[in-house]
Amino acid sequence: MQEVIKIRGGRRLRGEVTISGSKNATVALIPAAVLASGPVTIVGVPNIDDVDSLARILALLNVDVNTDRNGHLIIDPTNMKNTDLDDDIVTKLRASYYFMGALLGKYGYVRIKMPGGCYLGPRPIDLHIKGFEALGAEVEYDRGCYTIRADKLVGDKIFLDISSVGATINIMMAAVYAEGRTTIENAAKEPEIIDVATLLNKMGARIKGAGTNIITIDGVHHLEGCFHEIIPDRIEAGTFLILAAAMADDVRILNVIPKHIEALTSKLDEIGVTMDIGIDSIHVSTPEKLKAVDVTTKPYPGFATDLQQPLTALLTQCEGISRVEDTIYKERFKHCPELQRMGADIEVGNGMCEIKGPAKLYGDKVTATDLRCGASLVLAGLIADGVTEIHDIYHIDRGYDAIDEKLKALGADIWRDQTE
Ligand code: EPU
Repeated sequence: MQEVIKIRGGRRLRGEVTISGSKNATVALIPAAVLASGPVTIVGVPNIDDVDSLARILALLNVDVNTDRNGHLIIDPTNMKNTDLDDDIVTKLRASYYFMGALLGKYGYVRIKMPGGCYLGPRPIDLHIKGFEALGAEVEYDRGCYTIRADKLVGDKIFLDISSVGATINIMMAAVYAEGRTTIENAAKEPEIIDVATLLNKMGARIKGAGTNIITIDGVHHLEGCFHEIIPDRIEAGTFLILAAAMADDVRILNVIPKHIEALTSKLDEIGVTMDIGIDSIHVSTPEKLKAVDVTTKPYPGFATDLQQPLTALLTQCEGISRVEDTIYKERFKHCPELQRMGADIEVGNGMCEIKGPAKLYGDKVTATDLRCGASLVLAGLIADGVTEIHDIYHIDRGYDAIDEKLKALGADIWRDQTE
């Protein structure tokens, strides 16, 4: 038996939805917290399976994890032990690689299994390794496990060939206790990086330039516990905006930083979606005729690859031919055959797809091959005639906080069921 999500399409959405704390910030903030000597309280942790997996990894490290009566997560590394992370739980998510930087930074030693996560084509971690080596670490890889050790970490200048989110955050964490200054050039500029640097600075680190492409980290001797509120999830906000663009009668999306999703809102504007953008909310009214657009994913502040898959589902409803190119993950098109099964007219090429719309979609049995493919199928299900049954929804639950409950509250006919 497995759990599936079922959606009876065609219901218009109406009401308010509140966006949760950022998944991709949370999954870095939790490992970052172990760099402190005392308890770190994190506010706004989303209720997603990736957080449960990270809590299990913290338990292996003898770190206390509790939720207080306000629902805040308290991570207390006071009695922490640097255990080898060779348990299978590490392979459940990509972000377990942040324990590389955090444990190397704190103890000068880490042994950890190769991280897992969504398959989006090859996802090497050579730049993370290059950064650790520049700080003086030795890295060995043997039968699926990395061993990284350093007698002493010393700051250096590190140029990232690609502005990788993961490598930028991992190097920041490894460098907080390093001797002298570390400079990351061509650093990634995503808002999640600023959030992690903010947490580390509240703990006592000396990080400057997060959010620009040059970050400096001056090593310190001590980091203490602190209190931190996570930024809203720009990808969840973007997902609901795309869902609303297709199906809203009148939807208000709350707890958004509109600046974080400007590449999306300007694209939706081009498509013909009517939005009223407030300080921390976005209101979407009944869509008029939707027009085809071309989209190319880019590092922040460009169009986010994580929103490419949900957007593709919306583009099936836009009049004309849309072209979507993913320059970050050339193989991130596994949602397309699933959308085709539902009636979409999509041709997939090398690192891109072409969508002819509008197409009539019909409910079918489809599979969420990865997290954002799942979101794309949820949208297709809301649009389609009949019932859509989405399989492998563990991908969706890894990263979306109660997407079905939030949609139900907006009037969608969506429910969970068990199937063979
Ligand atoms: N890359 C390398 N070498 C490296 C690191 C990255 O070649 O050492 C390449 C990747 O293969 C990719 C590009 O650089 O082509 C960018 O990868 P990046 O390192 O920025 O991605 P990531 O840190 O592994 C995070 C998010 C992803 C999101 C990407 C891009 C987390 C846990 N994951 O991944 O989120 O797609 O940045 O913005 O923060 C998702 O939420 O669905 C998701 C996959």
